Amino acid sequence: MRSITKCIFCAALLCLLAVFPVFSAPKYTIGMSQCNLGEPWRVQMNADIKNEADKHPEIKMVFKDAQNDVLQQRAQVEEFVSAKIDLLIISPKEAQPLAEPVSKAMSAGIPVIVLDRDIIGQNYTEFIGADNVKIGRAVGAWLVKNYGGKGAKVVEIMGLQTSTPGQDRHSGFLDAIKGSDLDVIFRADAKWLEPDARKEMESALSRYDKIDIVYGHNDPSAHGAYIAAQAAGREKGMVFVGIDSLPHEGVAYVKQGILTATFQYPTGGGEAILQALKIFKGEKVPKRITLGSRMFTKDNVDAGGVAIP
Ligand code: FRU
Repeated sequence: MRSITKCIFCAALLCLLAVFPVFSAPKYTIGMSQCNLGEPWRVQMNADIKNEADKHPEIKMVFKDAQNDVLQQRAQVEEFVSAKIDLLIISPKEAQPLAEPVSKAMSAGIPVIVLDRDIIGQNYTEFIGADNVKIGRAVGAWLVKNYGGKGAKVVEIMGLQTSTPGQDRHSGFLDAIKGSDLDVIFRADAKWLEPDARKEMESALSRYDKIDIVYGHNDPSAHGAYIAAQAAGREKGMVFVGIDSLPHEGVAYVKQGILTATFQYPTGGGEAILQALKIFKGEKVPKRITLGSRMFTKDNVDAGGVAIP
């Protein structure tokens, strides 16, 4: 009888362990090197990573925030390598300076997933991000279609030009407006930061009486420009377009009538964890995963936007 009770007890314990796998110790440590957490989009990226990682008890996440400082991010990647983590996810601040520490991680046998901003040389396991040239082109094509033929004057508030999304959102846009009458009269690098965008827009406003369109390489830049125009009493009739489309940021701005359009830039955080799991299992992963994007205007925002073809 006693042995039957013991068996029942053991079976119950096994069931519990199966239902609550939290009891099992994590098998893999993933280091996440985030270039900064000062911007909502990056907070969202880390949250997306954590949400997916929480579903997999074999993973332990360690997050480091480089506070927008390249030297700090380099040092943090080196710390991860010394700590012999099992996989590195990095969203690098800039393309060139982060290439070396990433190569060192690869040489140490640590697989690397690069997220959102690319690095020079592509010595990593896998890159995940949306196509920024395509997004820039979609912005340009949409502006030409809706505002072309009227001699519109454009301000372009660019993202950090030493980062690949900044370069690509600019080149794609230029490509799409080529041959149109959209006239870019002012262009500045606001490094992705809303306060810098606001200052650059103040300069544009003081120099030009006619500004019709502002293209911000991210939603904080478009919003900073809007605030500057509003302070000058000139925001009405201006078109503000941004990129990112966080529900509580860009999409909310569209609903409030602050932005005319926002183009989505998915964080790829959840996908990075799914890819990491494949790498741990020894599965072959593609060198690049390109995420899709949507656009939101007041006409489609309630229906969830439309996909960019
Ligand atoms: C956040 C951010 C986003 C932008 C992305 C580009 O740091 O500026 O707003 O879409 O980085 O890498």
